[in-house]
Order: sequence, then structure tokens, then C-alpha cells
Amino acid sequence: MRHVSPIPDTLSFEQAAVLPLTLSTAATGMFQQDHLGLAMPGADPADRPETVLVWGGSTSVGSNAIRLARNAGYRVVATASPHNFDYLRSLGAAEVAGRRGPAAVDEIVDRIGDSPLAGTLAIGNGSLVPAVKIAARTAGSKRVTSAQPGWVTRLRSPRARRPGVRVSGIWGGTLKDNEVGPAIYGDFLPAALTSGAYRAAPDETVVGVGLDRIPDALRRLRGGVSAKKLVVTV
Ligand SMILES: NC(=O)c1ccc[n+]([C@@H]2O[C@H](COP(=O)([O-])OP(=O)(O)OC[C@H]3O[C@@H](n4cnc5c(N)ncnc54)[C@H](OP(=O)(O)O)[C@@H]3O)[C@@H](O)[C@H]2O)c1
Repeated sequence: MRHVSPIPDTLSFEQAAVLPLTLSTAATGMFQQDHLGLAMPGADPADRPETVLVWGGSTSVGSNAIRLARNAGYRVVATASPHNFDYLRSLGAAEVAGRRGPAAVDEIVDRIGDSPLAGTLAIGNGSLVPAVKIAARTAGSKRVTSAQPGWVTRLRSPRARRPGVRVSGIWGGTLKDNEVGPAIYGDFLPAALTSGAYRAAPDETVVGVGLDRIPDALRRLRGGVSAKKLVVTV
């Protein structure tokens, strides 16, 4: 299975609907060799000494990145607005920090501490520049992968450039064409969802039933959602 997975009876279709795009995007960035090339997740991982930085941890992609990193044994440092700090901790982040303000980079470098970086995910508008600064100032991997569309990442990379830091741009569907798709959707996810080792996050909010509710959902999305995925059932 490269891009689909059975779901257990305990998981509703509405809950499971939060997963495909967000999990695929996070997994592509984290596990493909052309991005962060991290160790694959498993059911009962041993703790690793390295840290994964997830800038934008309360996004849907970021929520899955935190869970995947934890399932691969990495320590996680993640950013969000303060009202989502407990949410990030509930996903397994060891340290959390705000992403706004001039002190954000210093604070996150401090939170990473002596643990070498295994890699950095830059998620959300404006995430690339601070993520690259942090990778340049900390020990370990200098790889930063961005969830912004490839052309945005390419345009912004020159402004973010720091010696030794390597930036790549994720296209969330590419894992179906390499070893990451089967490893995540075949080897990992079915058993991890069944055992509860992996949880569908963020929570879903069902906007309504029927395709005619999609404009409502889009209006709500434009108004801003935080640590939630809007779902329309058909
Ligand atoms: N490359 C790909 O293939 C691919 C695929 C899917 C998504 N994406 C991109 O990934 C990003 C996240 O998508 P999503 O669906 O996961 O988002 P989402 O769930 O709609 O994200 C909502 C969250 O975004 C956070 N946020 C808002 N502005 C931010 C910023 N400037 N920096 C960091 N966090 C910010 C807010 O967190 P707080 O309330 O905690 O501030 C909010 O909780 C988007 O830019 C999207 O375009 C890329």
C-alpha cells in the first residue's frame, strides 16, 4: 500500500479524513532522502538523542510531524501560539515555544539545548527564515524542509540562506513513488492506528453534510482555524 491504509473500527471516517494530505506531507518531508531523511517510525521506538524541530506544530501538517517524529523516537521541539502549547505537549512535544516576536529564534535555540538537530520542518507563512537561522546556530543536521509550495520555497530560499544549511521544498504526494509510501501506509499506519500508537490529529470539526456545504467550510477556513481540520461529509 503506497497511499491508502485500512482504518480500525474505533476511528470514524470523519476523524480519519484529517490524515491523508497532512500525514503524507509530513512524512514526505521527514523521511524522503531528498528532504530530512529521518529514521522511519515504528510501534515501540527507542528514544534517540536528536531533536526534530517542527516550526508550525499546531498546523495539521505539523501535528502529524510531531506524532511521526515521536513514533521514530526523536525528541521534538515545536512552535505554536501559546493557546496551543498544551495541544503540542499532548502530541508528544518535549519543548514548546511561540513563533512570534523578535526573541522567538533565541528562545527556540535555547529549548533545543545540547540535543543535536536531526532536521527541521518549516511549516506556515514566514517559517523558512527563522527555521534556517535556528539550523545555522545549532549542532546537528543543517537540513530544513519547507511545506510551502516548491516555487515559494525556491523564491524565499536566497533570503533565508545561511552557510551550510540545505533547504528543500516538499510536494506532499511524492511519497507514493518511493520507499516512504509503503513504509508509512503499509508497514506503519494500519498497526499503529489499531494499537493507538498513532492518533489522527488535529481533531475534526464537521461543518455539514453534502457538497453544498463546501463554500461554508471554505468561509470558515478563511476566517482562520486553529489546531482543527474542517470536514464536510458526503
Ligand atoms: N507542500 C505540500 O505538499 C503541502 C501540503 C499540505 C499543506 N501544505 C502547507 O502547509 C501549511 C500548513 O497547512 P495545514 O493544512 O496543516 O494548516 P492548518 O491546519 O490550516 O493550520 C492552522 C494553524 O496554522 C497555524 N499558523 C497560522 N499561520 C502560521 C504561520 N505563519 N506559521 C506557522 N503556523 C501558522 C495556526 O497555529 P496557531 O493558532 O498555533 O498560531 C493554526 O493552528 C500551509 O502553508 C499549507 O499550504 C503544503
